[in-house]
Amino acid sequence: MQPRRPGYLASDITPLIGRAADVTEGVRLLGETRLLTVMGPPGVGKSRVGAQIARLSGRRFPDGVWQIELSSVPAGSCPAPHIASALGLGEGSPGARDTEVGRVVSALRGQRALLLLDTCEHVVDGVALLAESLLRRAPRVRVLATSRRPLNVPGERLLAVPPLSLPDPEPPIRQGRAARAGDPGLSGMSAPAVQLFAERAAAADPGFALTPGVLPVVTAICRRLDGVPLAIELAAARLRSLSVQELLEWLAEPFEVLSGSRSMLSRHRDMRSAIEWSHALCDPERRDLWAALSALDAPFDLEAVESVWSPVAAGPAAGPLAGLVDESVVLREPGESGVLYRLPYLHAEFARRAGGALPHIVPSPRPGADVRVAASALTRSDLAVPAPEPAPEPPSADAAAAALSPRELQVAVLITKGMTNREIAVQLGIAKRTVDAHVRNILTKGSLASRTQVASWVAVQRQCVDV
Ligand SMILES: Nc1ncnc2c1ncn2[C@@H]1O[C@H](COP(=O)(O)OP(=O)(O)OP(=O)(O)O)[C@@H](O)[C@H]1O
Ligand SMILES: [Mg+2]
Repeated sequence: MQPRRPGYLASDITPLIGRAADVTEGVRLLGETRLLTVMGPPGVGKSRVGAQIARLSGRRFPDGVWQIELSSVPAGSCPAPHIASALGLGEGSPGARDTEVGRVVSALRGQRALLLLDTCEHVVDGVALLAESLLRRAPRVRVLATSRRPLNVPGERLLAVPPLSLPDPEPPIRQGRAARAGDPGLSGMSAPAVQLFAERAAAADPGFALTPGVLPVVTAICRRLDGVPLAIELAAARLRSLSVQELLEWLAEPFEVLSGSRSMLSRHRDMRSAIEWSHALCDPERRDLWAALSALDAPFDLEAVESVWSPVAAGPAAGPLAGLVDESVVLREPGESGVLYRLPYLHAEFARRAGGALPHIVPSPRPGADVRVAASALTRSDLAVPAPEPAPEPPSADAAAAALSPRELQVAVLITKGMTNREIAVQLGIAKRTVDAHVRNILTKGSLASRTQVASWVAVQRQCVDV
């Protein structure tokens, strides 16, 4: 069965600001590769950039461009049934995941189509399986994914979407007097982050104008939000009731201010939900490092990372740090003598407000203050890591299940079906010893004594997941 319609690509409601270079590079890469993943942190604009790349590449795909949003697919489950339904293939018979993947592949085989799979980070394993099948069996199909983490499929190319550019150099805030020609802030009017703020601010408060007088404060707001468009939009909407100066001051309590949107995506209604979505996808070790890094001023180097990690963990920080870079939680940037890292302000504030997970580290009250690490040599097992706040949609139901990685969740669901570790290994195409390790993790995380308990635990927690 073939798709009923020749594709679907939604129109943008607002103009795309400041992404010409990223989109051009994306179009070029999509001409060279059959699987392109648009990566970046929460709310940075991956979906917007991905859609624009698809739009500009459309004429190369006479059989259509299919934009399919995956947010509603439960974390760790197979997205193929959702994709089949979006393609108009109708209901499949209830059965194995491969059948659903096979249906999508057969429908697209022979077609010159582009599949834009939007929001993949919570279902990367399932998307990876589908993408690999398409690459092998539907040679004229290309896949454009947006995701906070890579799919890790052979042949995948990555396009990193950075935050919107900020004015450079940083203008000083001179309250109460208009800036004059020659002030360093004046050139900042055209910086994309500032332009986005100005557009959304004018929508919220028709009296708002981006004058040289308010530019330094607007720049400070955009800088505080690390140039992330979603955060800038949520902040600018507050100008209905606050002045820009008040808004800047209120950003000391960012999650109070960055909320209240009516976005169709629930993780975009407030910034805490947007970041929680990433937090729920990280394994406990990455979350611990995330909490530890919140004590550092950005940017920082590997030595600084080790200084906050070594008192709490036996192993080196390099592994979990690479993991946080992969999750688009920690951003890499070039430094004069090597790579530097940045935990965005809102991610740091999120970890601080999650309860100071690592009690021997006294987080600085604001970026800019000193990092203080107590000398006490606590081990990780001494530390009480409080449960995360309830996650938003993807890691869908609850914090306990959300603590499982997507792969662990798949394994747990297959245990509920009575499968042995060897059968699970065959089903998922991974080594049995890897499954053994996943099962040990699941038992530990759920404080469970047996597979039977896993089955009843998952049955209660994850009724919505069908892998
Ligand atoms: N360059 C831009 N110009 C105008 N608006 C933008 C731009 N980039 C992002 N936005 C707006 O910011 C918000 C977040 O963008 P988008 O949904 O593309 O982010 P995302 O990286 O896909 O988020 P998520 O990680 O949650 O999937 C949206 O409201 C979008 O319209
Ligand atoms: Mg998105």
